Amino acid sequence: MKDIVETFIKERQLTREEYVELLGCWNDPSAAERLAAEAVKIRKQYYGTKVYTRGLIEFTNYCKNNCYYCGIRHGNHNAKRYRLTKEEILECCVSGYELGFRTFVLQGGEDPYYTDDRMADIVRSIKDRYPNCAVTLSLGERSYESYKRLREAGADRYLLRHETANEEHYGRLHPAEMSLKTRKECLYFLKELGYQVGAGFMVGSPGQRLRDLAEDLVFLKELEPQMVGIGPFIPHHDTKFASEPAGSVELTLYLLSIIRILLPKVLLPATTALGTMDPKGREKGLAVGANVVMPNLSPVKNRKQYDLYDNKICTGEEAAECRGCLARRVESVGYQLVNERGDAVS
Ligand code: 5AD
Ligand code: FES
Repeated sequence: MKDIVETFIKERQLTREEYVELLGCWNDPSAAERLAAEAVKIRKQYYGTKVYTRGLIEFTNYCKNNCYYCGIRHGNHNAKRYRLTKEEILECCVSGYELGFRTFVLQGGEDPYYTDDRMADIVRSIKDRYPNCAVTLSLGERSYESYKRLREAGADRYLLRHETANEEHYGRLHPAEMSLKTRKECLYFLKELGYQVGAGFMVGSPGQRLRDLAEDLVFLKELEPQMVGIGPFIPHHDTKFASEPAGSVELTLYLLSIIRILLPKVLLPATTALGTMDPKGREKGLAVGANVVMPNLSPVKNRKQYDLYDNKICTGEEAAECRGCLARRVESVGYQLVNERGDAVS
């Protein structure tokens, strides 16, 4: 066993150079197993065998940005665009509530149609109807004022992956008008406004080196988000990364364990991208430290259109089917799906 693994388990934090060394052991099975065992121990200490579930409502695939990896980027003229009305969003919540969801995640591209007035109205309507549910937003970069209004309208949480904490790497993944600085600023605004905040990144995105991942870990520790979303990069056929290799499932699992140890109380999803790369990916994620799953509540007619990457799973199933399927999957690895809001423990 490598000393660096034991040092990390003991200190729960390393320097960037040390993270590079720790990450360098990712294909050493003994290191991966040792980290996973520790991660699961910590996860059980805080969350027992509960798995929290979030109903994901992908409400618009219009996006003004042009992130190079993403299938719904503005420049992809093959994407068939859709927007859900407030009524359609509320219908997703009605069926989601019946299925036991107590968190709704409204996720979309950066779509200027959803002004602060429209978005605040949607959030307020959900919170009026379901005061015992959490509303999570995932709408990309907005102004401080905008985040403030949505928070006042009742939004509880916000997901905004930083994608990579290295400036140069950020520049390889995004056009010049986007910047890591703005992204980080948004995350700190959200924290300041009292949102429970989720950051995160893709594993194996083009040009990513272990030292970039090491920077991600340093940044996560500094930000201390309540949630961290990571999943393997998966190429999309209509992007300039179409023939780049996908990210590694094993490295993603290794990072999940590291993040659980780094931020013991974090809410850590076993993501759809992980389930796309490996038919047992989400189960494997839970078995190495993840404690959240985010099945899709979007109307089936639009699911295929929220096409971030190729071969995305769960695009043909009804919400109830995904719920049942996931409940079985979660149980197969010794955990239970629970019908709770699932806030991070304090
Ligand atoms: N592969 C994997 N994940 C992707 N995302 C976007 N495009 C891809 C892709 N090609 C992720 C980003 C974004 C989240 C909503 O989906 O990390 O933040
Ligand atoms: Fe959607 Fe299994 S979770 S079909």
